[in-house]
Amino acid sequence: MDSKVLSTGVRYSSLPESYVRPESERPRLSEVSQCEDVPVIDLGCEDRGQIIQQIRDACTAYGFFQVTNHGVSGEAIEKMFGVANEFFRLPVEEKMKLYSDDPSKTIRLSTSFNVKKEKVHNWRDYLRLHCYPLEQYVPEWPANPPSFKDTVSNYCEEVRQLGHRLQELISESLGLERPYIKSVLGEQGQHMAINYYPPCPEPELTYGLPGHTDPNALTILLQDLQVAGLQVLKDNKWVAVNPHPDAFVINIGDQLQALSNGRYKSVWHRAITNTERPRISIASFLCPSDDALISPPKGLTDDGSAAVYRSFTYAEYYKKFWSRNLDQEHCLELFKNN
Ligand code: OGA
Ligand code: NI
Repeated sequence: MDSKVLSTGVRYSSLPESYVRPESERPRLSEVSQCEDVPVIDLGCEDRGQIIQQIRDACTAYGFFQVTNHGVSGEAIEKMFGVANEFFRLPVEEKMKLYSDDPSKTIRLSTSFNVKKEKVHNWRDYLRLHCYPLEQYVPEWPANPPSFKDTVSNYCEEVRQLGHRLQELISESLGLERPYIKSVLGEQGQHMAINYYPPCPEPELTYGLPGHTDPNALTILLQDLQVAGLQVLKDNKWVAVNPHPDAFVINIGDQLQALSNGRYKSVWHRAITNTERPRISIASFLCPSDDALISPPKGLTDDGSAAVYRSFTYAEYYKKFWSRNLDQEHCLELFKNN
């Protein structure tokens, strides 16, 4: 039987044709560097000035960093991984009740990235949910596994606090008032992607997710602690970000690149597959409110540097993003001033 999702419990012995990338687009895994130091920032440090400096350096040079002593409890993290695993182990018929390839759905199980737009598929299934405000969305979340709603709600609340704290630090690192970013982004939405990458028969030929930047403001990623797979582009080379036991990976999204007038980069990243073990990652996305106007603050243009991008609302950007394929030109390029 043909299934739309990959997580059926059946192992594939060869890569189906529709997942095979043309030669020039393949991951070239032997060229990926394994030993680059990805910044790890201790948010428990008493010297706030030092944290801000580290964030400024990391966002300028990389567009991403890891954080420890982040305030999200070990228990919340462990339970979140547990329920994500349980969900993807459910019988495929049960999961398929949630299947949709329509990106405008507020909860859906899907596969690859944008099944209807893309030419080549990606070796990933994902459950994508809207998570804020919780009262609005929790009722439509899966009732199975039974602990799903409680566990995920609690995780979302803790992660949201971390996100806000990071936005304050990022504001200050740009020389802006502490609440600046939070206030211009309005009542922020929060989405989650629970990603499941099954073992893949031919990791050299395909991706879990091809290189992309995240369209939102800030992403807080929890990676599988046992199975590596995340890579980021640094100085035009792909670098593996191996799991750190106590850290979240934070990446600047397109909205903060625009808002910082290009000073901070929305980092290109990708997920690769492996033949041995399934990999899970949990991405939490903080998204500006639909009507938030994304435009650089005066403080970042009054040194004479012009606004790199035209002003736009987040609703306008998001619509454009999902109308496209993941491996096209960077969506922000379409908003550049001449
Ligand atoms: C994403 C993403 C990376 C990973 O969901 O946008 O980049 O490691 N995930 O799963
Ligand atoms: Ni991403």
